[in-house]
Amino acid sequence: MKLFDVYPLYNITPVKAQDVFVTDEKGQEYLDLYGGHGVISIGHTHAKYVEKITDQLQKIGFYSNAVQNPLQVELAEKLGKLSGCEDYQLFLCNSGAEANENALKLASFETGNAKVIAFENAFHGRTSAAVAVTDNEKINAPLNSQHSVCFLALNDSEALENELAKNDVCAVIIETIQGVGGLDQGTTEFFKEVEKLCKKYKVVLILDEVQSGYGRSGKFFAFQHHQIEPDIITVAKGMGNGFPIGGILVHPDIEAKYGMLGTTFGGNHLACAAAISVLEVIENEKLIDNVNEVSAYFFEKAKSLPQVKKIKGRGLMLGLEFDFEVAELRKKLIYDKHIFTGGSNNKNLIRILPPLTVKKEHIDRFFGSLIDMLRK
Ligand SMILES: Cc1ncc(COP(=O)(O)O)c(C=O)c1O
Repeated sequence: MKLFDVYPLYNITPVKAQDVFVTDEKGQEYLDLYGGHGVISIGHTHAKYVEKITDQLQKIGFYSNAVQNPLQVELAEKLGKLSGCEDYQLFLCNSGAEANENALKLASFETGNAKVIAFENAFHGRTSAAVAVTDNEKINAPLNSQHSVCFLALNDSEALENELAKNDVCAVIIETIQGVGGLDQGTTEFFKEVEKLCKKYKVVLILDEVQSGYGRSGKFFAFQHHQIEPDIITVAKGMGNGFPIGGILVHPDIEAKYGMLGTTFGGNHLACAAAISVLEVIENEKLIDNVNEVSAYFFEKAKSLPQVKKIKGRGLMLGLEFDFEVAELRKKLIYDKHIFTGGSNNKNLIRILPPLTVKKEHIDRFFGSLIDMLRK
């Protein structure tokens, strides 16, 4: 059987990885400043993480959500404590799209409405409602277009209020920092206005922290830079450091009812072990402090490069914008300098999403290579 060919692939075959490095089958090592789409949070194959998952697998890897699973409770308590969202309730699933799908469904149950407000250039995933609120026609099939969605410009509170005043909206969904879109973000003033308007019109505010969450922005959640309180927070990516797990954090005002959400695999024993280990490492190794330190260093370095037109993002969710398309530059960084970076909808932007363990010396290597490439 052949693979269903939906991905344009780089000709690289990673066979092992350690911390911020990935090694291919020929023994070539690559500096990973992309973490496989912002997934690797505590570093590849972290010893404590490997030990925790291995131990768990030897006890029990999976049972369904029909029985007690104390690991889910432990994960919820730890996540509440570390994120400062202790009052929220946790529902576990397996990916970012699924987290957003469940968040939107819950918002619709809660309000009795179906229309969703999303933002231009947003990316929320590939499942039906998640892709419908993603601003990219090319990845929406006719089936997905049946959802009722309105896309607004970021930072336009007036347009938001006009739309909310129609009283047919169930949710406003927004990435705190746009990932795939190219690192744009709303202002604090705008986020506060969104919160206020959602309360006024009794609409569920969903913060998509799938990419920006888990410390990547320099706070546990990126929305915490804006001092707002979302109704639902969606998480995935860094949550499992590569083990597939996602979740939604649900405000205490939203009441759970049996059967309204459900999943076979979500919150299984192995996934919980992985997610608990990630939180333990983030806490014990003070990785959020490291994010802030290395991020400040990155900004300093980037500012000294005249070719960089704009530095976007926060923490270790960063973008360097040039006045030319960067596809060739990124290819050279991979094949000549052995450094992984990411692209985005903005063709002039290099996206940087390293493991949160990255050090200043790795940033030095990146900028050294970049300067060398730009000189050629
Ligand atoms: C902000 C955001 N939301 C949702 C998703 C979808 O996550 P997944 O690919 O795990 O379904 C992504 C993936 O890139 C994302 O960046």
